[in-house]
Amino acid sequence: MDTQKILSILPEKVRNRVDPFFEAIEVMGSVRDPKVAASLGPAGVRGMLLQRGKQSPVTKIRASHEAYFDWTYPSDQPEMLDLYRRAKSSQWDGEKQLDWSISVDPLNPEVAVIPHTFINFPKLEEFGVRLAPRERAEFVANTLSWMLSQFLHGEQGALFAAAQVTEAVQFFDGKLYGATQVVDEARHVEVFHRYLDTKLEKLYQINDNLFTIIDALMSDSRWDMKFLGMQIMVEGLALGAFSTLYTLTREPLLKELLKYVIQDEARHVHYGVLALREHFLHHISEKERREREDWAFEVALLMRNRFMAYELYEEGFEHRLTRAQWREVMLTSPGLEAFRHVMFRRLVPNLREIGLLSDRIRPAYAQVGLTKYFGEKAADELSGEELIAQLDRDAARIAQAPTMDVATAYGA
Ligand SMILES: [Fe+2]
Ligand SMILES: [Fe+2]
Repeated sequence: MDTQKILSILPEKVRNRVDPFFEAIEVMGSVRDPKVAASLGPAGVRGMLLQRGKQSPVTKIRASHEAYFDWTYPSDQPEMLDLYRRAKSSQWDGEKQLDWSISVDPLNPEVAVIPHTFINFPKLEEFGVRLAPRERAEFVANTLSWMLSQFLHGEQGALFAAAQVTEAVQFFDGKLYGATQVVDEARHVEVFHRYLDTKLEKLYQINDNLFTIIDALMSDSRWDMKFLGMQIMVEGLALGAFSTLYTLTREPLLKELLKYVIQDEARHVHYGVLALREHFLHHISEKERREREDWAFEVALLMRNRFMAYELYEEGFEHRLTRAQWREVMLTSPGLEAFRHVMFRRLVPNLREIGLLSDRIRPAYAQVGLTKYFGEKAADELSGEELIAQLDRDAARIAQAPTMDVATAYGA
């Protein structure tokens, strides 16, 4: 269905009202692989059309997977055992190790929590929305609260997924490691929630697309799909977002908090790569591998194109811009471009490493401009410390640049 054509003939007011539904149809319609569409479809209906994540403060999602017991306690995966050991000795306490006495004023331009160049204000002006300096500062502050709120909701999903995967995975060393990830994710929920609650004092509802992905992963009974979705895709997305914010923020508490979280997340993605590489290379058929390869590609595109922060639009711009104009502002905002770049720099090499970037799918990635990430380092070759060092170099380049040019700032 050509939704754009239908939309264009509707009067503007009506167009804006039906746009969310058409967009949901378009999202699902854009998934080219019927198997992938079938696996995401029901969650898409619940998330995007019914907005289940927003209807009440509590949502119940039925999880169905098999818990895998092994009464022989094999020492089966030395690299996972090593990660388990590292995770145990890298535990930190957000209550003790972060300086919560730092006062945060998101409207203070001297200590920019995120820079104003994050948002494409010239584009907003093109559409006739001129904001006073105070309004700009508020919009930027709200954008930050929105992003951190989505991180928090994502962390809740990660906490549950880590617990489920720990039950379901067949590697015993993986189960031991998985328990540390559950604690890590609990800590992430704790610190993001505390920052939002006590420093920014604002919490946004879960974004419909994020809800859809979490719903799909919670309810999928195949552990490796849960794993691929959570440990590679969602963790990759989170790592991209945290990293971007880490390089951009000048607020010391948030920077320190993100530094700790990023190092945990680097371990999580590393584990994802280990477990799935073993599984995809030795335990599934070529047909099943292809299915997962297609799924990963479609989900990567959904994540890239669909986080449009409509919660912010509904809060302050609904009467000033159409949803289509809002999307254009979001898609061209330098902060979000940076985020997409950092995310794919992490994600694509990990897909390669687990065997989901075969010659068969490479042209599809090339077509959407992702070839440049094919040769980057995967998570098993990049420690948390190396990752932070790389981000510190990015941050130094950004601090030098008068405007935020993503390509130069991130060496894209
Ligand atoms: Fe996390
Ligand atoms: Fe994680």
